[in-house]
Amino acid sequence: MVDTTSQWIVERTGICERRIADPETATSDMAAEAARAALEQRGIASSEIDAILVCTVTPDMFFPSTACLVQNRLGARGAWGFDLVAACSGFVYGLTTGAHLVSSGAHRRVLVIGADTMSRIIDYTDRSTCILFGDGAGAMLLEASGESDNGAGFIDFLGEIDGSGGDFLKMPAGGSRLPASVETVQQRLHYVHQEGQQVFKYAVKKMFEVCRDLLQRNGFTGDDVTMMIPHQANRRIITAAAERLNIGPDRVLVNIDRYGNTTAATIPLATQDAIAQGRLKKGDLVLFAAVGAGYTVGASLWRWAY
Ligand code: COA
Repeated sequence: MVDTTSQWIVERTGICERRIADPETATSDMAAEAARAALEQRGIASSEIDAILVCTVTPDMFFPSTACLVQNRLGARGAWGFDLVAACSGFVYGLTTGAHLVSSGAHRRVLVIGADTMSRIIDYTDRSTCILFGDGAGAMLLEASGESDNGAGFIDFLGEIDGSGGDFLKMPAGGSRLPASVETVQQRLHYVHQEGQQVFKYAVKKMFEVCRDLLQRNGFTGDDVTMMIPHQANRRIITAAAERLNIGPDRVLVNIDRYGNTTAATIPLATQDAIAQGRLKKGDLVLFAAVGAGYTVGASLWRWAY
């Protein structure tokens, strides 16, 4: 499709494969499937969910929200919910929001879903972006912990947004600023536009800083982290941050080689891989971290519960 090579892509990004949804599949389809899998793993009925958060920048449509579509698909009667828009940081923000809904005492079970069909907003004539993104969805069920959980669960979150970086990664048209028109389509403004180097530099710096500061204020260092599960945007961003944090490769989950950047889905997909590979056990200190469009930055720290 574009002037590139497999070698360039692998060396510069770490990506070897990506998944692209078939034309009939939209974000809510993948989100509902991921949600069902999460519920099945825990043996929880959809009627027992109190809230559904769908983190996405590629909703099926502006409204109704993807959370409503997923709720209906799951038959999760009694749940409320909403979509959360924070691009690649979406899932980390969703996890934190969900954790606070549970810790408030008002919710027992919150389903947090990260789902993006990036292929619908990617310009496959732009070699600087089309090689990066893939489609995917993942879900996590947050539950109120009991006394036997021994302090397991959410520990802390640190986040930051910086709108001055908004122009470096965006989908310019389709909203109230530039509604869809013949011109916006002709000018390819309904696709992702990115200044790759600017985003790269910011991500390398911020991924490290937010993790360092979050660990520090909780009395930890990188040595204490059992597993770092970062957003998967570029292998070089992950490696640079992990090295500076002194978290060795055996304690960092990287699966960008198989999925590319699936935006809000990278962290739940990576977590699922960590579980499948037997790399997470009860009591482990887990660090989630992401930097994304906005700019958005976030990291959260957890004690693994099972
Ligand atoms: N194949 C071959 N060459 C390519 C290419 C491709 N797919 N994409 C870009 N190039 C070229 C550029 O045109 C440029 O050529 P030039 O020097 O002749 O102008 C050269 O490669 C270097 O481009 P540059 O943008 O500096 O490359 P890079 O090392 O920064 O890598 C990205 C590009 C996009 C992989 C990298 O910037 C990146 O990962 N950025 C962050 C992306 C990201 O994280 N986005 C989501 C945030 S959550």
